[in-house]
Amino acid sequence: NEQQLEAAFQARIDAEEKIEPKDWMPERYRKNLIRQISQHAHSEVIGMQPEGNWITRAPTLHRKAVLLAKVQDECGHGLYLYSATETLGITREELIEALHSGAAKYASIFNYPSLTWADIGAIGWLVDGAAIVNQVSLQRTSYGPYARGMVRICKEESFHQRQGYHIMMTLMQGSDEQRAMAQDAVNRFWWPSLMMFGPHDAESAHSAQSMTWKIKRQSNDELRQKFVDQSVEQAEVIGLTLPDPDLKWNEERGHYDFGEIDWDEFNRVISGSGPCNRQRIAHHVAAHEDGAWVREAIAAHEAKKQQRASK
Ligand code: 3HC
Repeated sequence: NEQQLEAAFQARIDAEEKIEPKDWMPERYRKNLIRQISQHAHSEVIGMQPEGNWITRAPTLHRKAVLLAKVQDECGHGLYLYSATETLGITREELIEALHSGAAKYASIFNYPSLTWADIGAIGWLVDGAAIVNQVSLQRTSYGPYARGMVRICKEESFHQRQGYHIMMTLMQGSDEQRAMAQDAVNRFWWPSLMMFGPHDAESAHSAQSMTWKIKRQSNDELRQKFVDQSVEQAEVIGLTLPDPDLKWNEERGHYDFGEIDWDEFNRVISGSGPCNRQRIAHHVAAHEDGAWVREAIAAHEAKKQQRASK
């Protein structure tokens, strides 16, 4: 019966077995994964917008080529993750509909505008940096297709972070205006990057269950702390100041203490009232509609191929 099935499932999770698409799984496990993996995919795809905004305005051909490659990678990450979600019995159309209707979330960080070239450096260094901390941990998630997608994505992410950090380092070795531009970008992206790790563990709706099912291997606060600790040194090395007066090394804890996140801002942005939420969805809807003819052409071509094959 259901109890025995759930107990056997939990025993597999506890034994560090990977759950595969055809395995029995609790409906709530399936739903939790569809929620998290599809939102992860949406984040990758929506994340293409703030960065894509600077491809035509990159300062050198080299920076343009690197940014093009990164944005293309993000799209690929989105496709891996949509495919992983579809193994759980939901269609791409349903996932896109959930994004367009606002039913599905995506990483709040992408609802902030990319105002200057330095923002591209801050996004690569901080946003991809935070994503890497989260995704390295997710390589050990209990659902097979998600874990394998993470392994592949992590291989590409380190280049994303390094190119962002290189942009910031270059600017900090430049003119006063360039240094000011880099510092301004950090001032605007630092706190929203911390929000990428989600609410505090005590306020996290899904963490307890996600940890029991080993969907989540480390908690929101634990990963956030890891990201803060690594970022402080990286900022100091290139002369950037992180915009948090409470940031201080705590010898006892062996970590940096840091200030409180503005959770009102967090809740505003994840519930749709961030600076760019409407623009990001409108852009995605327009691109989806403009691209409908491509999907129809592929379907028509496929149907003709089937017809010819069945003659
Ligand atoms: N942005 C938007 N929504 C967020 C959020 C954020 N930064 N942090 C939390 N939330 C949402 C959760 O989705 C959940 O809402 P829901 O029930 O409607 O889904 C609610 O806030 C409560 O948060 P929980 O901690 O209870 O939720 P989770 O257990 O799902 O933890 C998470 C949140 C850590 C973000 C987890 O969902 C996760 O690890 N997601 C996959 C990783 C991810 O999305 N990373 C960002 C990718 S961006 C990227 O990689 C592009 C980069 O390469 C440029």
